[in-house]
Formats: sequence, C-alpha cells, structure tokens
Amino acid sequence: MEILPGLNESSFTGFSKLNRDERLQRLVVMGALTPADLAHLKSSHSHAMLTLSENLVENVIGCFPLPLGIAAHFHIDGRDIPIPMAVEETSVIASASATAKWIREQGEITTEIQGDSIIGQIQLPIVKDFTSFVAILMAHKQLLIDEANHHVVPGLVARHGGITDLTVRCIVRPDGATMAVIHVLLNPCDAMGANLVNQVCEFLKEPIQMLTGERVALCILSNLADTKITHAKVVIRNIDPIIGQGIVEASLFARCDPYRAATHNKGVLNGIDPIVIATGNDWRAVEAGIHAYACRSGQYQPITVWYMVGQDLIGQFAAPIMVGTVGGVTRLHPTAQMCLRMMQIQSADQLARVIAAVGLVQNLGAIKALSTKGIVKGHMKLHINNLLLSAGATLKEQIELQIELQGLLQTQHKITLSDVEGCLQRLRQEQHAA
Ligand code: MEV
Repeated sequence: MEILPGLNESSFTGFSKLNRDERLQRLVVMGALTPADLAHLKSSHSHAMLTLSENLVENVIGCFPLPLGIAAHFHIDGRDIPIPMAVEETSVIASASATAKWIREQGEITTEIQGDSIIGQIQLPIVKDFTSFVAILMAHKQLLIDEANHHVVPGLVARHGGITDLTVRCIVRPDGATMAVIHVLLNPCDAMGANLVNQVCEFLKEPIQMLTGERVALCILSNLADTKITHAKVVIRNIDPIIGQGIVEASLFARCDPYRAATHNKGVLNGIDPIVIATGNDWRAVEAGIHAYACRSGQYQPITVWYMVGQDLIGQFAAPIMVGTVGGVTRLHPTAQMCLRMMQIQSADQLARVIAAVGLVQNLGAIKALSTKGIVKGHMKLHINNLLLSAGATLKEQIELQIELQGLLQTQHKITLSDVEGCLQRLRQEQHAA
C-alpha cells in the first residue's frame, strides 16, 4: 500500500491544538493535501460556516455541503408544506414531489404520534438477587424520579415533560448470571432528548448503587424508542387496480423477505434522512431506531405496509423517529433553522410526523415505479447529468449531448459512464475537425 511521503509518527502530535491554517499546512506537509486542495478548501466555505463547524466538531478542515432541494406538492394533515431535503441521490426529490402530487389529487396523508417518552438505560451487569433488587428499586421509585426531575431536568418539568416512569428488565446472560436493566422513561418535550436522558441516567447511578448495593455499569439512552411511535397513513382513492395490486404485492414481498425489506426500508429512509439532515438532527440515531424497530419481531420487517380496501390503496408507516426542534445543531445551524421555519414546524412531534409522512410517500413512489415501469429509466434520465459531470463535460457539452444520450437510453434501456465518455470523445473530435 502506498504511504503518504511526509506521514510519520509525529505527524498528528498536537494536531487537535492547531488552528485551521496550521492544520491544513500540516496535512500538506504529510502529502495528504495538495496546494489545489488548499485552494478548494479555502474558497469553498464561508467564514461563518467554518466557525460554526469548529464549534461542532474537532480537527475541522472544511465543510461538506449536500444539495438542499424542495419536495413539492406535500399536503400533510390538511396543511401545504414545502419539504426541504438535503440529499445527494438523484431522483429522490423528483420522486417524492411526483408522488405527493398524485396523493394530493387522489387522496390524503395523515399522521399521529403514540406515546411521549424516550428511553434511557441503566445497566447492572450482574445482580446478586434480582427479586430484592426490584423490590428496593420499586420502593424508592418515586423518590428517584422526583430527585432526578428536580436536580437534572427542572426545565422539562416546567414544560410538562421530565421523567415519567422507571421500569426494570431482567436479562439472562450467556454465563447464566442475571443482568438488570432499568429503563428511565423521559418526556423530552421539543428536544431530541439524548443529552437529557443521558444526564438523568448518570445522575441516578450513585443513588441506585447506594440503595441496592448493586453495581451500575452503562448509563445511556436507547435508540429503540418504542415508547414513542410516529405513524403516517396515505390513502389513494379509486386507484387503478393493476397499479394498486402491484404496490400491494411489493409490500408483501418486503414482509416475506428480509433481503427485500432492507431495500424497501432504504427507500423509506430516502425520504426520512434528507429532512432529518436538513433540520440539523441526528440521522444515525433515527436510522438506528428505525432499523431496530423493524427487527422487533426477530425478523427484519418493512416499516411500511400497503393494502387495498375496496378501490382504495392504504399505506401505513410506524416507527420511532427521535428528532428535536431545540438544542444542538438544530438551534445553531442557520440552514436548519430556515428549514424548520419554512415548514412552519412548531414542535418536535410535528417534525417527526412530517418526516414519517415523507418517508411513506417516498416508499410509495419507489414501489410504484418498481412494480410498473421499473426505476432504471426514470433514474438514469436524471443520472445522465451526473455521468456527464463525471466524464468531465463542460456546461456547453452537457447541453449538446443531453438529447443524444436520452435517445441512447431509450434504445439500450441503460446508460453507462463509458457510453457517455464515448459520446463526449466523439463530440470533441467532431468539433476539433470542424
Ligand atoms: C433506491 O435509493 C431506493 C429503492 O431501491 C427503494 C426500493 O427498492 O423500494 C428504489
């Protein structure tokens, strides 16, 4: 394997203490960056964005912007909403918009949330006597809740949130010993809640150890927040029965086969992640929660289901969506603030409901295409631009080759980078000869 010429044991010594210019210079000395990279990094991002980035993460050298687009035609719970989506994948926004338009013309999207609490876990790796452990804990449950509410999250309590319950789970370890896991249920109001619930769990560690004489190990939230589930429902009235049946069959395929369910859910997440990102929320947390929920029966399942009732197609989404509208990046990032404002989002629950609705609509767009004309044609049409860019075409060349490449796509039903490179080469030769 090739090694960077200037990289040695001391290259990263004190790296985190350097300012950005020093950091960039150090990377140039290592051979990790070229002068052209430096010019790119220095010209691509605003001072404000770099300063914000330095406040968010460590060892910043630049920013990585994603395209931010608007999915149009969404009408959710009786409200028109422009949907901001930060996503790099061609056709996601186009498909969401087209599907939302179809639903607007022929049906409706509604949403709701069941439950209000997220889960923090306090783990006791081995408890000597589980029965007496539970008895002591339950005898002091209200005291523990009151203390943590008072000392750690008084602001949440003032907003009608805070810790709502403590429950205990018994897990038999592979070595036969008993592990106890306390679940701290906490209503985070408009925060995503990870920091709050982590603080509460860590606060409770000492008192629980003192009261029970058992040892606490990990204190951390669970991303499987099955105590707060966001639901979305789509109805399409009087659907063409062949299209409806194709969508129902696609749904059944995902229910029967985890290999298909994974891709089916990826299509749902195509709608979910871009809004989670655009609003400055933690998309890894949302993904983790959704995948864990999809697996709750022991087999990985789709998080949406589609079925016919008479002439109508019904689709339903249900999964945890842990997002916030206050705190963290959501509050600090001007683009996240703008996106929340544009959707007129008033609460974290409302945001989660919009996200669920877009995920369900995105899924419908994908499985409708898959069960009718396939996705390659529509996808590749939009993908031609990406291929032209990858082949190094100038804007003028892109315009000149668009029609020809679309024609090629019609005849071959697919198009590759080497097709595009071939056409570009020929165009340049023709222009050179003229
Ligand atoms: C591609 O990003 C997403 C799809 O594969 C989803 C699906 O198969 O349902 C088209």
